[in-house]
Amino acid sequence: MPLLDAAGALLARMTLDEKIGQLNLLAAGEGLATGAAGETQLGARLDAGSVGAIFGTKSLASARAMQERALAGSRLGIPLFFAEDVIHGHRTVFPLPIALACSWNMDLVEETAAFAAAEAASEGLHQVYAPMVDVARDPRWGRVAESPGEDPLLASRYAAAMTHGFQGRDPASPGRVAACLKHFVAYGATQSGRDYDNASLAWEDLFEVYLPPFAAGIAAGAVSVMAAFNAVNKLPMHAHGPLIEGWLRGAAGFGGLVVSDYTGVQELTAHGLGTPAEVVARALHAGIDMDMVGEDFLRELPALAKGGITSAECGLSLAPGEVERLIDRACLRVLSFKAWLGLLDDPFRGLDGRQPAPDRKLGHALARKAAAESAVLLKNAGVLPLAPKGRIALIGPLVEDRLNMIGTWSVSGDARNIVTLRDAIAARPDVTLTTSRGADIVDLPWFAQRLNVHGETVTRDPRGSEAMLAEAVAAARAAEIAIVAIGEAREQAGESSSVLAPEIPASQRRLVAALAETGTPLVVLVFAGRPLALGPIADQADALIYAWHGGIAGPEGVADLVFGDAEPSGRLSVSLPLHPGEVPLHYSVEPTGRPFPGQFAKFRTGWLDLDDALLPRPFPFGFGIGYSAVRYAPPQVSSRVAQGEDGRIELLVAVSNTGDRQTVETVQLYISDPVARITRPGRLLKDFRRIALAPGETREVTFEITVGMLTYPIAPALDSVTEVWDPGCFQLHVGPNSRDTQTVEITWQA
Ligand code: BGC
Repeated sequence: MPLLDAAGALLARMTLDEKIGQLNLLAAGEGLATGAAGETQLGARLDAGSVGAIFGTKSLASARAMQERALAGSRLGIPLFFAEDVIHGHRTVFPLPIALACSWNMDLVEETAAFAAAEAASEGLHQVYAPMVDVARDPRWGRVAESPGEDPLLASRYAAAMTHGFQGRDPASPGRVAACLKHFVAYGATQSGRDYDNASLAWEDLFEVYLPPFAAGIAAGAVSVMAAFNAVNKLPMHAHGPLIEGWLRGAAGFGGLVVSDYTGVQELTAHGLGTPAEVVARALHAGIDMDMVGEDFLRELPALAKGGITSAECGLSLAPGEVERLIDRACLRVLSFKAWLGLLDDPFRGLDGRQPAPDRKLGHALARKAAAESAVLLKNAGVLPLAPKGRIALIGPLVEDRLNMIGTWSVSGDARNIVTLRDAIAARPDVTLTTSRGADIVDLPWFAQRLNVHGETVTRDPRGSEAMLAEAVAAARAAEIAIVAIGEAREQAGESSSVLAPEIPASQRRLVAALAETGTPLVVLVFAGRPLALGPIADQADALIYAWHGGIAGPEGVADLVFGDAEPSGRLSVSLPLHPGEVPLHYSVEPTGRPFPGQFAKFRTGWLDLDDALLPRPFPFGFGIGYSAVRYAPPQVSSRVAQGEDGRIELLVAVSNTGDRQTVETVQLYISDPVARITRPGRLLKDFRRIALAPGETREVTFEITVGMLTYPIAPALDSVTEVWDPGCFQLHVGPNSRDTQTVEITWQA
């Protein structure tokens, strides 16, 4: 490939120090602690070009100046590249990833990523630290907010759509950027939901649940990957050669750049993997090409290249020549990455101000549509949509909020541009609106304090809880409809924001209960960054929408749903816990031996203090309703028997809109394998189709069942995985969510 030739030719002319310099990525504005290779020999800068609402003011001019300095100081004129966290939009902030995944609309997902890429590229960014494709099954983990949810198939489709959106066909083409799949891997399997904690899991789970979204992103062309902070089965990922050089570059065929997470290399020492020199050698050997922020590559590699390293304690021995070879390997990957980005040809790509930013108004409209499609209608006892008139009491700690509604990881968005929920509802001219706070967003003063890391985002009302509650109840009594907006602050979810109890705080629960008592029809809107246990709220509400943190146009998108200007079509990308202690959780649980027929009911898998009346789970994965009514006919199969690897069965289901509004239905196909070599998940999502249905319309949806949908991994060790399938009986489940399905049994013969 000519690009690689260019990178190879460059490498051949570089000194050792120049090569080592390329392997480092520093935050913009920060000088080097080491001073070793000098600012002008770095590989990349983080947060260089943006005007972040949180991280201070920078500009295209400062990024350009940085590039000019780098080129002037680099003997061979090697440019920097600029990277940033563009997690759910850049200036135009879209709904949180966990929310966007609830749209199940991959065209929309791709469109938001493409818009974000165009904004980022216009400000000189070349790489974005997204998509985050960690399957997340523990609502305590704050980074659930950044994840596409609990299911590997949905996460894989999301990974591909985001990658296509960011990169198009070529990350160097105008308005595109390099995607970076993160965090490799099993970061979401963290113990007890604590951020940065390690993951211990069956290799089968790694292959079936956590790796597929990375494989999908790589197949979609992603040119970079970020390592995860956690250990996987005892080996921290920044030193995990078998997974990075082995699976990622070997089995998955990834040919791009692997970057460390923030100070991830030096954190290996705290993980107990050795001295700074030892961990640098281990990380480089494992396949980490670039050291983000830590400067440990800069500090340690010159001596390692001279003297090599032998450490019985770490089981490590690298001769000097071997270290040099590894430096060359990593450097070639950095240079190839720059070549793919077009930077070796045009170091000022994106920095000359000639790439126009896309129209912010179009972005806003897209963000509003995305917010409406990401919110999930969970219940509607004939209340919604509301007529845009009458006396509405709008209650809750988030009704006038901007800073929290934008959601975590919105580093370049400006929450001041958000139209509040109050203003979005008041925009309906015939509505008479009364607002009332009702409760604080968090109950404990010290907790509010802890959340205010980026300014006063969480405030407390000096009137106290009783006065707020009384005012809200009076407002609800005087209204024809009460809408209450409850949930979480933005800093409650995201990085380093794990919680013990993922539930609506007590004062907000009390508020909803008191409002329900008034008898005024009650619409509950939940704005949050994670799936929260709702307790009795679902029963108390007449209508319930899980709206997440919806980004720059979140409140407007939700108001569109409330008044029927948009049709609800969101489906949960994660199951909602019944209780804050019911974690981790997901729909695809494996069966156990209990309850055993004839035994006392007590001896079963479950919780003694979980009320059976709450089961089955009201809001499982895939769940969501619309304003119309949808009926599924009994599914038909082309044959009940198939044979061999090339066998095929078609499953056909007729889906009818029996209501009087147009709607979008997401038809979901799950498969289970009741008898196998090992215990298999109760069911797994294998395909889905979103279809638009006019009132009275029926459409037939066909799924093609292939052997590929029946296989699963057997992996006694990481390096001995086999994909197998077991001839015999399989069950195909079709329906509107992971629970309410109709089943057809088929036999697949060898
Ligand atoms: C996070 C990454 C992020 C990086 C750079 C880290 O703390 O884990 O997801 O991309 O910081 O901001």
